Amino acid sequence: MIHPIESREKLQNEIKKRDSKNLGFVPTMGALHKGHLSLIQRSIVENDRVVVSLFVNPTQFNSSKDLKHYPKVIEEDLLKLTPYADQLLVFTPTAKELYGNQIVAKTFDFKGLDLYMEGASRPHHFQGVATIVEILIDIIQPTRLYLGEKDFQQLQIIRFIKQQLRWTTQVIACPTIRESNGLAMSSRNIKLSQDLRKQSQSIYQSLLYAKEVIKTHPIPLIKREVTKRINRLPNLKLDYFEIVEPNTLIPISRAQKGQSFRGCIAVHVDTIRLIDNIEICY
Ligand code: PAF
Repeated sequence: MIHPIESREKLQNEIKKRDSKNLGFVPTMGALHKGHLSLIQRSIVENDRVVVSLFVNPTQFNSSKDLKHYPKVIEEDLLKLTPYADQLLVFTPTAKELYGNQIVAKTFDFKGLDLYMEGASRPHHFQGVATIVEILIDIIQPTRLYLGEKDFQQLQIIRFIKQQLRWTTQVIACPTIRESNGLAMSSRNIKLSQDLRKQSQSIYQSLLYAKEVIKTHPIPLIKREVTKRINRLPNLKLDYFEIVEPNTLIPISRAQKGQSFRGCIAVHVDTIRLIDNIEICY
């Protein structure tokens, strides 16, 4: 059985008591799915002990409506973690425990990494993400931090912050886990009806299309075609599709031979917003 820990002091004592040489850390906002479990499993293999945090971070949400509707299923999450109970410490803090009385994000300079895509569509989102990850890293001091490639812009921003703040923690990127129809696993998927789930498979299919035609089609044409493929579905509306340089996250309009890019997409599926990305090699 899992005994979740709410206090930072208690968590630090538990970590100390176990005196592990390697400590893995998997930060989550709960509503655990196979993608999270793959991070946790890898972290267990690579470390003596693992901390999983379940915390829906208020400062990374742009709208109180989105925060309110974010799935919160703590009991189910704890059940999913039970098979790993011996290796895990599960941290379930309150906002007050992490932020004190002022639940606000710090201001980071991401040197432009937050200019496009999620950064443009969700202003201040990454300030909130970086703030909470810094707070958690500070408390836990892990050897390795596990993040999914599904949130590619988040991953690159955390890697950048790691350099800036000189964390000794290693950032480990883990591949996106997909449902059988290709849809990237996300906590938000539980809100999809069967019909919406079916329509949403065109998100990954559009990424595969872009990857396939990169050598033969100009990027503006690929972008137009992806927009058409998404928007022709009754409940889907494209927020953005960009092909970006993976380190600067700047959208490109012409591909050069031998380069590798990232195709990144965000789509509104009715009221649910889904993101995905794929590596694209020219
Ligand atoms: O990717 C997420 O679930 C969140 O952004 C994270 C990293 C747990 C921070 O709240």
